[in-house]
Amino acid sequence: MPEPITAPAIELDGVSKAFGANKVLDDVSLTVRHGSIMVMLGPSGTGKSVLLRCLVGLLRPDAGRVLVYGEDVAALDESRPRDRARLFALRRRFGMLFQDGALFDDMDVGDNVAFPMRMHTDLSEAQIRAKVADKLRRVGLSGVERKAPSELSGGMRKRVAFARAIALEPDIVLCDEPSSGLDPVMSATLDELILELHRTLGMTFIVISHDTAEAKKIADTIGLLASGKLVTYGPAADVFAEGQPALRQFFERSTEGPIRVL
Ligand SMILES: Nc1ncnc2c1ncn2[C@@H]1O[C@H](COP(=O)(O)OP(=O)(O)O)[C@@H](O)[C@H]1O
Ligand SMILES: [Mg+2]
Repeated sequence: MPEPITAPAIELDGVSKAFGANKVLDDVSLTVRHGSIMVMLGPSGTGKSVLLRCLVGLLRPDAGRVLVYGEDVAALDESRPRDRARLFALRRRFGMLFQDGALFDDMDVGDNVAFPMRMHTDLSEAQIRAKVADKLRRVGLSGVERKAPSELSGGMRKRVAFARAIALEPDIVLCDEPSSGLDPVMSATLDELILELHRTLGMTFIVISHDTAEAKKIADTIGLLASGKLVTYGPAADVFAEGQPALRQFFERSTEGPIRVL
């Protein structure tokens, strides 16, 4: 039996990141429990995607530690060969559904989902085919392997992107605004898919969103980023009960409140 994982999936400790004079993340600290669903809310341009890129070492913070199962990603420098191998090993623990998570249009659905397995594993073609079928089944799209992405609806393409994100059976799935560009019904089915994958596969989910309904539905932990600061963070029930002014403003879609609209 593998040992149960008790370390937190993610720990941020004093993470700051600026681009020139633009201070995007200002001393952010938080812990994401293994096996939880954390939803990070925040207005556009507030550093949510930057935060995700720091988690996988695509961006290095100016200060602070970014621990992934106890190992500091922020201390690894991709240009150093020794660090590079560690960084790539850590990245393998993540599945990523990027905001602009486009599929490769010149590949069929099956090859899209198989892509990470071909890149990162020595699995045989037969094993890959079986795993592709399994991942597509899990996202409710059995049998579409030979279709071109252009033949699918927007919601189906998102599901294929999900199948690709979980192709390597990651510990942590990062979803950057998974429902952006989808209508409310498609968004709701995508939320259900996240809950279903969480229930059946037990992965940790970190979901970036500006949709409070989505947060209410799926989160067990909620954060709110505004002007580079983590203004609230904790168990979903506590965060909602606390009625933090910035969160309330977010829920009420109000222009009045601590979140400044430029
Ligand atoms: N590579 C980069 N270089 C310079 N500025 C960046 C870079 N990436 C993001 N930014 C800036 O950081 C801020 C936060 O961006 P982002 O994290 O994408 O916001 P969001 O919360 O909408 O995901 C924005 O002002 C953006 O212009
Ligand atoms: Mg973003």
